[in-house]
Amino acid sequence: MLVSYHRVNELGVITIDNPPVNALSYGVRKGILEAITTAHADDSKAVVILCEGRTFIAGSDISEFGKPIAEPSLPQVNAAIEALAKPVVAAIHGTALGGGFELALSCHYRCALESAFVGLPEVTLGLLPGAGGTQRVPRLIGVQAALDMMTGGQKIAASKALKLGLIDRVLSGSMKDGALAYARELVASGTGPRRIRDMSIAPESFAGEAFDAYRNRLNQRKRGQESPQKIVDCVEAAITMPFDEGLAYERSSFIERSQSEQSAALRHIFFAERQAPKVLGLDKNITPRSIDQVAVIGAGTMGGGIAMSFANAGIPVTLLELNQGGLDAGLALISQNYSVTVGKGKLSEEEAATRQALISGTTDYAALASADLVIEAVFESMDVKKQVFGRLDEVCKAGAILASNTSYLDVYEIAAATTRPLDVVGLHFFSPANVMRLLEVVRAEQTADDVVATVMRLGKRIGKVPVLAGVCFGFIGNRMLRQYAREAQLCMIEGAEPGQIDGVLTRFGMAMGPLAVGDLAGLDIGYKSRQALTAEQRGDPRSYAIADTLVEMGRLGQKTGAGYYRYDSHTRARSANPDVLAVIKAEAEKYGVSRRALSDEEILNRHLMALINEGFRILEEGIAQRPSDIDAVYVHGYGFPAYRGGPMFYASRLGLDKVYGCIDDLYKRTGEAYWKPAPLLAKLAENNQSLEDWVASND
Ligand code: 3HC
Ligand code: NAI
Repeated sequence: MLVSYHRVNELGVITIDNPPVNALSYGVRKGILEAITTAHADDSKAVVILCEGRTFIAGSDISEFGKPIAEPSLPQVNAAIEALAKPVVAAIHGTALGGGFELALSCHYRCALESAFVGLPEVTLGLLPGAGGTQRVPRLIGVQAALDMMTGGQKIAASKALKLGLIDRVLSGSMKDGALAYARELVASGTGPRRIRDMSIAPESFAGEAFDAYRNRLNQRKRGQESPQKIVDCVEAAITMPFDEGLAYERSSFIERSQSEQSAALRHIFFAERQAPKVLGLDKNITPRSIDQVAVIGAGTMGGGIAMSFANAGIPVTLLELNQGGLDAGLALISQNYSVTVGKGKLSEEEAATRQALISGTTDYAALASADLVIEAVFESMDVKKQVFGRLDEVCKAGAILASNTSYLDVYEIAAATTRPLDVVGLHFFSPANVMRLLEVVRAEQTADDVVATVMRLGKRIGKVPVLAGVCFGFIGNRMLRQYAREAQLCMIEGAEPGQIDGVLTRFGMAMGPLAVGDLAGLDIGYKSRQALTAEQRGDPRSYAIADTLVEMGRLGQKTGAGYYRYDSHTRARSANPDVLAVIKAEAEKYGVSRRALSDEEILNRHLMALINEGFRILEEGIAQRPSDIDAVYVHGYGFPAYRGGPMFYASRLGLDKVYGCIDDLYKRTGEAYWKPAPLLAKLAENNQSLEDWVASND
């Protein structure tokens, strides 16, 4: 039974039990409505709504969106709750999110355990609160706070929710006992229902222009996203329309949003993130190893960020460097990073100090003897990595997991430098490692199943999105990135300027364009790694000639004030660099490329098709487990817009026949082997099959 109703003396108690997160599926909505009808008819004096399991209702059932909604709808359920003539108390534990919190807002009073969170995260799914949230929240906490809450979508801790006025009481101890006691108090004091719909919106400065200013700010902060703007429209309606009209406006906006392409993409990413850590073929009963103590080798760009990721999750870390100078520099950078976060008001000083205290430094390998997991983040050199793993093999305890953060190198070969290849795995974090959520878990030939299970679980524990990858040059993300970066270079030599290329891709929604990313990371990084390759491995010189020349001119990107762009030394503001155009033209001449105007459409197509074609190869080779894993990689590691669902989802929505046609045209036009359509893409397009068909046929 999803919903039950029982009496505790003068109180009616409605209990929802729909594991895992008490989502408001059809059966739950129907059950609550029936329980409310019963409570209406009986002689109970007040009603308490609570949930079994780990959380209060975490929202509507996301898998029901995009399909017709069976009645009773959530607004109907909420209206019945609000209309009840006896006080209704929502008793919140865990996370009351989305429709779950909207249901709580329809109750007359709300109490929550001190560990609970509330929130309206619909915006993260390309939606808007569609069951009264946009109309009730401004009445409760004012327009500005309501807009911030709903366009930000973040979870709000119970103590803060109390201060804002979103809830009425914070409970400690037993939630059920506390909630029943609260309801009894209301009965004893003769306090009746208190309906948010009857409240007026606090007068404040929010007039037409203030909404416009808010919309403009959102346009910058949430570039390309439709939902935040729609939320502002609905909140404005809360002021300009009577409550029921405002509700109707919100509902029609919600339905329109739930049928939008952006919402379909964001829902796909929601499920992709949750699917990714599930490893096909792994025994579900496997016992993961326990990880209580971590060590990181190398306190450079990545090592410091990786150490912070563990400390942020409360896991002690030992950071090892070659010498005291390097260690001090690494620890100082970590300290500076925490100070910046504190300065932005995102972390309290105490919390920052607690986290930092979890990171200790050493230059002595003997200090790693008790580590359960060691992550190597030294220079990208096979020789150096082999040396480090050889040393780890000597000092680490039996059963310790030995991981490499290598970007490209062969994890089989690294594992072979130890006597325990079963314990070796790739853990590829992304820069900045304390911020980026992607974690590629690279399974080498002999990596033990329990090691894979352990690091997948650990990845989730530190707030990452772990995605399994097989061994190949660049794994999933960087292997695809090489194709994308090649197109940026080729478009440039063929006629486009850096500003046009980056402009096209940022308008598509990429966090940054490929050339601006190059300048940020430093053009010398790619240069150095190319130097280690043979001419054949480097490929077509037109795809790196400009970059190499810039490096040889000392233009390494932001750190030297010039790369593909010029950077203001104080503000870091970017501007076009006319010298670069001269370099581009000279390289074009050198390689006999006659420059032409490239359309924005061609630039976009070539970049996206390069990603997609490689994505299909990666899938077919089994380097990625499923198409949605590739999407999770691109969204969480490479700034691909989540509201476009990732490259494979984007390809599916375009239609595989169209994608195939486009790639085949590029192949016919250029004759380049890399444009040969991936066999899997060709097969699916020819057979008129979708990626979902392919996934289903592999199950
Ligand atoms: N609908 C359907 N399934 C859901 C769900 C939802 N709202 N929320 C979570 N699930 C599923 C997950 O897919 C996962 O399934 P799986 O085990 O088969 O992979 C399972 O529940 C557990 O989820 P998590 O792994 O995410 O569990 P956590 O404990 O890490 O997190 C949570 C719990 C914080 C509740 C997180 O799941 C979450 O943020 N859920 C989404 C909340 C949300 O966005 N709600 C708004 C929905 S839109 C809405 O309500 C519209 C309304 O305004 C009309
Ligand atoms: P980095 O050069 O910033 O840091 C490497 C650190 O390792 C240096 O501080 C160095 O002193 C230290 N080191 C070198 N040899 C050592 C040894 N034998 N023992 C202990 N410490 C040693 O390099 P970065 O950028 O942090 O890269 C590290 C690894 O992470 C590389 O394999 C790289 O490919 C990978 N990576 C880098 C990313 C990036 O964006 N920088 C992203 C993802 C992975």
